[in-house]
Amino acid sequence: MKFDLLFSNPGLFLRKATRRVANHLLVLLSPAARRHSEVGPAVGWKETREVQLEYLKKFIRPEHYLLDLGCGTLRGGIPIIRFLQEGHYYGIEVRDNVLEIARKELQNEKLEHKNPKLIHVSDLSKGKIGRKFDFIWAHSVLIHMTDEILDSCLCFASEHLDSLGRLYANVNIGEKKDSTWKEFPIAFRSLQFYSEVASRHDLNCEEVGPWRNGEQTMLLFQLHGRG
Ligand SMILES: C[S@@+](CC[C@H](N)C(=O)[O-])C[C@H]1O[C@@H](n2cnc3c(N)ncnc32)[C@H](O)[C@@H]1O
Repeated sequence: MKFDLLFSNPGLFLRKATRRVANHLLVLLSPAARRHSEVGPAVGWKETREVQLEYLKKFIRPEHYLLDLGCGTLRGGIPIIRFLQEGHYYGIEVRDNVLEIARKELQNEKLEHKNPKLIHVSDLSKGKIGRKFDFIWAHSVLIHMTDEILDSCLCFASEHLDSLGRLYANVNIGEKKDSTWKEFPIAFRSLQFYSEVASRHDLNCEEVGPWRNGEQTMLLFQLHGRG
């Protein structure tokens, strides 16, 4: 928690501090909140779940194939799995233990019959899924990548997008110093940085608009010369 905020913006400092305490309490008291906190704050988890399909529903149909890159515990994945046809959801994740939690969530939600593919990928530069996707959804994932991993990620996306496919990803646009979340960085980069990495992998990158409270930006990546 940054104490300089206490003097520059006491209201925001208080809101952030209250949220942090509420989150700690929730994680202490509730096993579900402990699971949920593997992918972000337990406070606001439900809203962060719901907003994902709500957003995607503007574009996706049940017959589309979607890859949830960095699917975590299926916070966003469960409603998407429910929406898509059987076998059309693929989730990939770097942390094996988190994927185990995802499998239990799937059982709890009685959604195993939708036959989603949950795949552990320890290194995206070696990941091969064996099919192309209409959509790749990377919710709060690119922000947790080093520049080298981001490069592998956009290479992976370029190889796995259908010719008209789209990758949507929320990012932090700015020049702030990286901080950390669990074993990952929290990255702030310029739009030009994302465009340059994308173009190395035959992808266009465009800004779609603000994401949620406007602290983040939604980017869309598509193959050059698509169609
Ligand atoms: C903030 S969580 C978001 C999870 C999920 N997308 C959601 O919004 O509910 C970020 C997830 O991305 C995963 N991740 C980070 N780097 C990754 C990589 N290189 N390949 C695959 N998954 C990655 C993390 O393990 C974590 O589960």
